[in-house]
Order: sequence, then C-alpha cells, then structure tokens
Amino acid sequence: MIKLKNIVKVYNPKKANEFEALHSVSAEIQDSEMVAIIGRSGAGKSTLLHILACIDSYQEGEYSIDGTLIKGLSERQYAKIRNEKIGMVMQDFALIEDFTALENVMIPLNFSKKKIKGKKEKALAALRSVGIEELAKKPCNKLSGGQKQRVAIARAIVNDPAMILADEPTGALDTRTSAEIMELFKALNEQGRTVVIVTHDPNAAAQCDRAIEISDGKILK
Ligand SMILES: Nc1ncnc2c1ncn2[C@@H]1O[C@H](COP(=O)(O)OP(=O)(O)O)[C@@H](O)[C@H]1O
Ligand SMILES: [Mg+2]
Repeated sequence: MIKLKNIVKVYNPKKANEFEALHSVSAEIQDSEMVAIIGRSGAGKSTLLHILACIDSYQEGEYSIDGTLIKGLSERQYAKIRNEKIGMVMQDFALIEDFTALENVMIPLNFSKKKIKGKKEKALAALRSVGIEELAKKPCNKLSGGQKQRVAIARAIVNDPAMILADEPTGALDTRTSAEIMELFKALNEQGRTVVIVTHDPNAAAQCDRAIEISDGKILK
C-alpha cells in the first residue's frame, strides 16, 4: 500500500526561484488499485508521480510503500526500491531511439547488481506480454508512437514490479491507439499490479477505479 501524508514539495528551496509545487498532499492507494491522477497543466501531477516513483525528494511529510518510509534513504536504497517495486513509464516514452526494442527493455536488467539468468528471455517475455515480441530487433526510431509506448511499458514491467506509474501515457497518441494502451494497463492491473496514471484525458481517467484530482498543488476533496 502507498501512503502519502502531508507531503510538501519545494523546488529550488531557499533560492530566489523557490516554488512550492505540492502543499500538504495526503492520499492512499491500495494494492491492485488502478488510479488516475488528474488536473490541469502545472497542477503538480508529474511532481506527485515522481515522488511516488522515488525519483524525486520532498521536504515535509511522509511517504511510505508497504510500511517502509521513503525518506532520507541512501541512493543505493532508493535504487533498490525503484528496481524491485516500481515500473515507471515516463512522459514521451524516454526510450533510447537508436537502441532496438529489446535493448531498451533490457536496460533495467543491466542496472541490477544481481546476475539475472536469461536477461534476454526475460526482456522478450515482457515484449510478448505487451504484444510486440516480433518487433524486438527493430530500432525504436523505426517504431510508431503506439509501438514505442508498448516498449516503454515492457521496460517498466520487465522486473515484475508490484506498482506501475505512467505519466500521460496516452498524451502523444491518437484516440484508437490510446484506447489500446489503456486496455494494456487494465490487463496489467487485472494481473494484480497497482497502476497509477497521470492523465488529462477524461476517457483514460474514466477507465480507472477512481481519480485523485489535484489543483495548484492541493488534492481536491
Ligand atoms: N524542476 C522544477 N523546478 C521548478 N519548478 C518546477 C519544476 N518542475 C515543475 N515545476 C513547477 O511545479 C508546478 C507543477 O509542475 P508539474 O508537476 O510538472 O505539473 P503537471 O504535471 O500537473 O503539469 C508547475 O508550476 C511547474 O512549473
Ligand atoms: Mg506533467
């Protein structure tokens, strides 16, 4: 379970351009829930998602995953949590364009210190589960937007995390491809994974169990 309690996020603290992006945000997300984070551009959605993903810090409050407080950990501890618990689908895919689909999906496996048996087989299985195993050897710059998003999702699930976080995963896709990608997230959720999707697409939000709405850095009740 994910628990946020009175989270305050300040960008550039104590500098002239200091900006408080989240003001005392509290929320809970249960295991196996599928939740949308909605709100206008600049509301603080990505900021919140980055904190959930353990790729950004916060100044006040408490964030815990399965009872473990995510605060003041060493870089190594953060990396371990990210690697084991979290699959992140970044905005605009964030793939290495001249790597093949397979090479992109193998990146998180190569970060892990553990010797993972059959890395290639694992990556191929992730590509299979998002329906594009046959594209494994294609460079990403030859793929369509929808195919790139599938590669990004395969990369997010290759370590079999309990939680998948996605930032505007349908933002750059046409209506039909968006619907297909949402079906894929729903399938991953039905397999028991917690899914959190930042979106300002009402159709995407409507397919989640519920939505958390954020406005000017505050959660609307
Ligand atoms: N690295 C940063 N430095 C300073 N301000 C930032 C930074 N990232 C985001 N912000 C500001 O924080 C607010 C929330 O941004 P963000 O979380 O990206 O919003 P959203 O994803 O809802 O569009 C915005 O006003 C944005 O300008
Ligand atoms: Mg954003």
